[in-house]
This record gives sequence, structure tokens and C-alpha cells, in this order.
Amino acid sequence: MKRLIFATNNKHKVEEVRAALDGKVEIVSLAEAGLSGEIPETSDTLQGNALQKAQWVWERTHTDCFADDTGLEVEALGGAPGVYSARYAGEHCSFDDNIDKLLRALDGEENRRACFRTVICLMEGGDDQPQPTTHYFEGRVDGQILTERHTNGEGFGYDPVFMPDRFAVSFAEMPLEVKNRISHRGQAVKQLAEYLKN
Ligand code: IMP
Repeated sequence: MKRLIFATNNKHKVEEVRAALDGKVEIVSLAEAGLSGEIPETSDTLQGNALQKAQWVWERTHTDCFADDTGLEVEALGGAPGVYSARYAGEHCSFDDNIDKLLRALDGEENRRACFRTVICLMEGGDDQPQPTTHYFEGRVDGQILTERHTNGEGFGYDPVFMPDRFAVSFAEMPLEVKNRISHRGQAVKQLAEYLKN
């Protein structure tokens, strides 16, 4: 069976990818692959960060691997926080700090359009290839930023204030299966799974 290292230790992400692949590809987390240490994420694009993380794994293992990077892009903020979504309110900030900063930045703003984008970078090598080849997969979901938190305790990150188009609830109010089906990451993972299954 094909084996791929996923450059993450986030159990939810690993489960989501395993489910999309129906057991047809073995997905191994960083810890399961025996890798530890901080992976640099210093690019100013999602694609650059995904590439950087996949390259970090490839250089250490020479094993097929992939990495993802996600950002929330808010139209009225010129695409911010974008690639800096995780640390929008500061280097060691919480999800709540980020949401507070976002709601303040959009206070009184009528245009609340936003999207989440995920880029996945897959690196595959071969015995006859000195360098791996890279493929990118991108998922996107459009919606709007609510004026306050709406949550049932589901989700993480900006979920309580993001309402996807064609839904009347936030990401944090919908069952995880529904979110995964329509989400940025869900779309990118689906494309990765289709590529790997063929
Ligand atoms: P990452 O690249 O998956 O680590 O995502 C970067 C940041 O984007 C996270 O720290 C969250 O703040 C935010 N984020 C990513 N995916 C989601 C999501 O599905 N819902 C809400 N926030 C998210």
C-alpha cells in the first residue's frame, strides 16, 4: 500500500484525510514517522508554507509526503489575516484573541465577505528521480464574518464567526461531517484523495 507522511500532528486533520482515502493509502503523522521539531512556516503565501513544510519532511525522510496551510481571507481587510491567521493577534495568541481582534477590525463594516482557503502540497519521488515532483491542491469556501460568536461548541479557530454561503449557521454550529463536506480543507483533501486513488 502507498504510504504518505502528513506534515502534521493534528489528529483531526489526520482522521479527515484517512476517511477521505477509504484506507487506500496509509497516512502517517509526523510523530508516527518519528519526526519531531518545529517546522518553519516563513513564507508569505499559503502555497509557500505548504511547500516549505512538505520539503522539511522530504529532506529528512525521502518518503512521499504532503502538507497543508490554511488562511482566512477577509475582503474588507484586503485579504488579512490570510497566511497569518493562526497568529493574527500575536505570536502565542488564542483562538479567542484572534476572533476578538477580527470582530474589532470589522466593527461597523458592512462588507463582511470572507473565504477560507487551504493549499495542500504533495511531494512524490521515485527511485529513478533525484528530485521529488510537487502537486498542489486548493480548496475554498466563501461566506461572511458574523458580528458575534455563534457556537454549539463544535469546531475551532474562527469557526464561531464564519457562516458559509447557503447556510444559516456558523461552522461552529454545524455537525463536523457537514463542515468537512463543504469546507476549504474538505475540498482540498477531496482533490488530493481523487488524485491518489487514480
Ligand atoms: P492551519 O494552516 O490549518 O494551521 O490553519 C491556520 C489557522 O487558520 C488556524 O490556526 C485557525 O486559526 C485558522 N483555521 C484553519 N482552518 C480553520 C477552520 O476550519 N475553521 C476555523 N479556523 C480555521
